[in-house]
Amino acid sequence: MSSEAAVSLRGISKCFPIYAKPGDRLRQFLFPPVARVAGAKARNYYDEYWALRDVSFEVFPGEQIGIVGRNGAGKSTLLQIICGTLKPTTGTVDVRGRVAALLELGAGFNPELTGAENIYLNGSVLGLTNDEIAERYDSIVAFADIPGFIDQPVKQYSSGMYMRLAFAVAVHVEPDILVVDEALSVGDEAYQRKCHARIRKLRDNGATILFVSHSAGHVTEVCDRAVLIDRGEVLAMGTPKSVVSRYQKLLYARTERQDEIRASLLDDYRGGVGSLDTPALPAARRAVAQPGGDEAYWDAGLVSQSVVDFPSRGCIIKEPGIFTISGERVNVLRPDEDYLYKYQVCFDRDAVGVRFGMMVKTKAGVELAGWVSHPEDSPLPHVVAGSTYEVSIRFRNVFNADTYFMNAGVAGMDGEHETYLARAVDVVMFRSMRVAGSLATGFINFQGQASWEADR
Ligand SMILES: Nc1ncnc2c1ncn2[C@@H]1O[C@H](COP(=O)(O)OP(=O)(O)OP(=O)(O)O)[C@@H](O)[C@H]1O
Ligand SMILES: [Mg+2]
Repeated sequence: MSSEAAVSLRGISKCFPIYAKPGDRLRQFLFPPVARVAGAKARNYYDEYWALRDVSFEVFPGEQIGIVGRNGAGKSTLLQIICGTLKPTTGTVDVRGRVAALLELGAGFNPELTGAENIYLNGSVLGLTNDEIAERYDSIVAFADIPGFIDQPVKQYSSGMYMRLAFAVAVHVEPDILVVDEALSVGDEAYQRKCHARIRKLRDNGATILFVSHSAGHVTEVCDRAVLIDRGEVLAMGTPKSVVSRYQKLLYARTERQDEIRASLLDDYRGGVGSLDTPALPAARRAVAQPGGDEAYWDAGLVSQSVVDFPSRGCIIKEPGIFTISGERVNVLRPDEDYLYKYQVCFDRDAVGVRFGMMVKTKAGVELAGWVSHPEDSPLPHVVAGSTYEVSIRFRNVFNADTYFMNAGVAGMDGEHETYLARAVDVVMFRSMRVAGSLATGFINFQGQASWEADR
């Protein structure tokens, strides 16, 4: 374990035995097969299922790591190994500090005991003394906010109540490491917001957070790093935005292309072809027309390093860029001025129900504003193969001084459903200029006006 890591995983693999018949489990236990010939492998009564294969990474104190991946990828298995509730088949795991966990299958409450009794039981399992628990008891109950249920056995709780209590206990033990497995997806949005705010507080106090989520937005918004796991293997690790883009590429790929995409992600990861923060960009993306005119509106250093081109489904997006109304290419934008976001779309197949779109996002990947060329119920009815469309979307730079990323997308009908025919993520990066003395805060300048009166 490197001297400063909070969690260190080295070569973690996990094999589950899969029994074809219920009786095989007992048979394996009572009569474990032995090899008949010296050196030969004994035949077991089960098949092996490798839920994790050779997973290695470190998490540093104070980091918030998001783990993403498809269903059955191995995410929960990995968290259970980190928490010590499952033993790896091979490899070593080192964890430094007190771990509190919110796992899919519950927090280890005793179903027969009341909520109040479980607070004491769970608190002491997590390393608090009775006095420490008593001190925090009221605050735990207030945070869980399950009026009338705290003195009922937890077997009578709904899964939402159960998770509320588990979360309240976990955050009140002030863990060094908090492990959260999708638990926040129960509960209403206000409660989720409360949990996230509490996690933020723990993190501000130096805790390390590992959390599994299917919400790409959340991972990009709150994590420092992300890990993509698929069929038990790490396919990507790096900035949340770059990992989430890769995850979505895999998730939204046509079934017949998934293996190919998976193999190329694995190759990139294993071969370390550029870290995820500097993926190799297609040459065409780099070779943007050099802007003429005012230097101040073009910064050659503003080149997106997280471009992801999704697999084409009948068209490709070329030459995306921002232009002034008079046609000059720019990437440093004046506040409150109008610009054109332009790109070409070349169709190699006929397409129906076509709409062109754009999206502006923060550095953390939060979607701020988008626009589409046609309303959902009246798209371009038919586009013929071989045609090229020049798309131009006029927009006002309402964004406060910061750096932003843009997507371009082409939607079309695939049978009954609208789908992306082409999608290019983070293809354009721009900066909005600072205005001296601006009164706007946050990302969007909504042209507020403040007034006030003093009562003498
Ligand atoms: N105790 C077990 N015995 C046998 N197989 C198991 C066991 N636990 C998990 N698995 C298998 O291991 C794989 C990984 O499961 P895991 O629960 O870690 O996935 P996950 O990434 O958390 O998925 P999800 O997003 O659906 O929660 C799955 O194929 C699952 O069926
Ligand atoms: Mg899971």
